[in-house]
Amino acid sequence: MNEKEIVLSGIRATGNLHLGNYYGALRNFVKMQDDYDCNYFIADLHALTTNPDPVELHENVKNILAEYLAAGVDPEKATIFVQSDVPEISEMYLLLNMHVGIGELLRTTSFKDKARKQLGISTDSDEDIEKQIVGNESNKRVNAGLLTYPTLMAVDILIQKARKVPVGKDQEQHLELTRRFARRFNSFYNVDLFPEPENFNFGQNAVKVPGLDGSGKMGKSEGNCIYLVDEEKVLRKKVMRAVTDEGPKTPGQPVSEPVNNLLTLMELTTAPEIVQSYRDAYADCSIRYGDMKKQLAEDILKVTTPIRERYQAIRADEAYIAKVVSLGAERARERASRTLQEVKKAMGIIKFY
Ligand code: ADP
Ligand code: TRP
Repeated sequence: MNEKEIVLSGIRATGNLHLGNYYGALRNFVKMQDDYDCNYFIADLHALTTNPDPVELHENVKNILAEYLAAGVDPEKATIFVQSDVPEISEMYLLLNMHVGIGELLRTTSFKDKARKQLGISTDSDEDIEKQIVGNESNKRVNAGLLTYPTLMAVDILIQKARKVPVGKDQEQHLELTRRFARRFNSFYNVDLFPEPENFNFGQNAVKVPGLDGSGKMGKSEGNCIYLVDEEKVLRKKVMRAVTDEGPKTPGQPVSEPVNNLLTLMELTTAPEIVQSYRDAYADCSIRYGDMKKQLAEDILKVTTPIRERYQAIRADEAYIAKVVSLGAERARERASRTLQEVKKAMGIIKFY
């Protein structure tokens, strides 16, 4: 029997992967695969919450798979699968929903953010958001799948009985909910089915990679991303155009948000003493943003170039990709179907013929 601790994580099939995905998740996928029982998937069902174009969705699944492989996830070491290839997940999602409160789903930050965006609401007040969701009579709607997104994510994790979930900081609330649902199920049925999973980043705090536009996180829907597969020229251009400020005026003044964001990106890619030299240069007002950005672009390219080069070859080999996920689905279904049986039994859904 495999004694290694179970790891599970996934990324939605919504577009190419960017540096936020890489530093928040994918890099750890690779670093963990020797020491843990790793399971990584493409969340295509989660992607459906935003009603994507079917052809694009299917392409994205393959693109992200190729990106996992190009970044170094090894199908010999880790189980790589597509969420919808494991139908047990959808079945358990229905069952777990019976123990999830609509109130707690309505209060989830990611839901409120996405609902606000979809309805074009500018208010921050929870009450107003809820009123507009319920009262909205235009043809814009917030679908029930988006509301129950955290249930599906909890099932992804619990059905594999995973303990460690390498994800970025933005997913911590979802993990908190997963732990709550696990405890609730165990105690309601007086069973010990689910361990409580936690975020994992090798003892470091969870990562939040900032965008290039001055504020907030790097995200697919924010249009502020550096993609792992960006061509060299495109990537350099993006970095050179990143928002900064007018330059420090007084020695020792606090670093502005846009510049701090670039320094945070640098901390992920660049040698610490070089980052410090730019911090010092900001403090004594001698900083030159052009130089800093050139350095940053250079260091990002060191990370992304090998991935981009491998990506092209892997993406072109559809037979190989298909083989990887068909094997992965088989392995993922093994544990998933065992857990599903345990869940059904606990709930009294028992076949008797
Ligand atoms: P996006 O937010 O771009 O739509 P996903 O929601 O699919 O991407 O995120 C997939 C993984 O990447 C998750 O583990 C998430 O925490 C991580 N991630 C996404 N953006 C960032 C970011 N800016 N910083 C850190 N981690 C991130
Ligand atoms: N919600 C995650 C995201 O947006 C993707 C995801 C779905 C996930 N199921 C998961 C991550 C299970 C970790 C474990 O990034």
